[in-house]
Amino acid sequence: MKKDRVYIFDTTLRDGEQALASSLSVVEKIQIAKQLERMKVDIIEAGFPVSSPGDFNSVQTIAKEIKNCTIAGLARAVEKDIKAAADAVRLAKRPRIHTFLGTSKLHREKKLRKDQDAIVEMAVSAVKYARRFCDDVEFSCEDTGRTEPEFLFRIVEAVIKAGAGTVNLPDTVGYTVPTEFKRIISSVFANVPNIDKAIISVHCHNDLGMAVANSITAVECGARQIECTVNGIGERAGNCSLEEVVMAMKVRQSLLKVDTNIDTKEIMRSSRLVSRLCNMPVQPNKAVVGANAFAHSSGIHQDGVLKEKTTYEIMRPGDIGLSENQLNLTSRSGRHVIKHRLEKLGYGEKDYKLEDIYTKFLELADKKGSVYDDDLEALVVLKEGASQDTYSIDYLNVTSGTKVIPTATIIIKSAKGLVQEAATGDGPVDAACKAIERATGISVNLTDYRISSNTGGKEAVGCVNIIAQYGDYRLHGVGLSTDIVEASALAYLNVINKVVRLCEVRKAKKKK
Ligand code: KIV
Ligand code: ZN
Repeated sequence: MKKDRVYIFDTTLRDGEQALASSLSVVEKIQIAKQLERMKVDIIEAGFPVSSPGDFNSVQTIAKEIKNCTIAGLARAVEKDIKAAADAVRLAKRPRIHTFLGTSKLHREKKLRKDQDAIVEMAVSAVKYARRFCDDVEFSCEDTGRTEPEFLFRIVEAVIKAGAGTVNLPDTVGYTVPTEFKRIISSVFANVPNIDKAIISVHCHNDLGMAVANSITAVECGARQIECTVNGIGERAGNCSLEEVVMAMKVRQSLLKVDTNIDTKEIMRSSRLVSRLCNMPVQPNKAVVGANAFAHSSGIHQDGVLKEKTTYEIMRPGDIGLSENQLNLTSRSGRHVIKHRLEKLGYGEKDYKLEDIYTKFLELADKKGSVYDDDLEALVVLKEGASQDTYSIDYLNVTSGTKVIPTATIIIKSAKGLVQEAATGDGPVDAACKAIERATGISVNLTDYRISSNTGGKEAVGCVNIIAQYGDYRLHGVGLSTDIVEASALAYLNVINKVVRLCEVRKAKKKK
């Protein structure tokens, strides 16, 4: 073990999954496990095998398929659980049994109804029993944050002696604050004589929003394993967020002097996958992976970032696998930013008068909120009113349902007449978009799709907003309808019409 290496123990598939409204299928769990492997987490806690045959099967399948991470199965400190965990992880290249027991007075007296001696006895027996099946055993003192220090030292010493190679000290209820957690972790290091025989781990919950801060504090005290989840999902307010704690150690490496093995370029992809499969949207202002985490909105910030990125950026978007920072063009954006964006789009100062464009830009931004690349370009090249939509929907019929391949038939109207096309897709929206692509001969890459209702009730109007990439251009499309598939098709066609306009703009630019 390298002294400055912090092991990342991911429990998205166990603590994270147990908090979802509906559980993940085995296929979805394997998809997540493979992405965690790609991101190079050290340990994947794949589930709680005794809890259900489905969970057992998932842990077993992950144990067989994942070759480059340790695979852990959770077990209470009882033989039945430990045996199930042992069976489930048996085929892993690197198996681990993770057994746990409540150690705080509250857990001992109210939940387990056992005294201190009985708890130590149970913990030691559990670790010894687990070691019969597996060399790698982790023991967790559940509710460490509220455990009396003297008893904590006693039980940690005993489980290390019994053969636990990792001892986890969870703040199970997210109750402690960093100064207090620091005292707890450093006192364990100072008072447990055989502490150097085990890796000390922490597992912090986020009930008071302190999970990442407490985990980093523990690392400063000597902990070398952090238990965390992608996007911080987990019981109640969740667990320590993997992306935040890993990026904290990377960005503040010179201060913390520790490292992880995580391929941080895989962070964004992991976050999106977990968010999608778990149906847990990421809040826009979430640290590291939120949609706004690299989006600069204030004019002063945009100006600063263009002059020198590090003025307002402590990490690069590329570090987490994003291509570039975003400057949101809104009424708060300054002239410098507009000029810079136009330069990126290929327009030099000779092509426009900055003052004129900036005035028009502000008018548009006041009306629209965000101004996208095609809007900006149209201000430079096209005269007002020259942007009539080329295509419109004359007819749309979509069939979908169980045991039906989603199919869309569409008639698109343009100055050249009517074009009829049909396509199948993964779902009705996908089928409709593919039919539109066929009818217009234009396709774009959808990067964001959001649906919301403009009014309440069953008859609400669905509003679909999409962001699409066409070459270097980011385009925004919107569609409204009481039928959400139609709203999606309208939003998609809105973007396609913008692409047509973009091409006209380019032609006009060449002629100039
Ligand atoms: O929060 C907790 O204490 C746990 C243990 C099982 C490690 O999830
Ligand atoms: Zn937990």
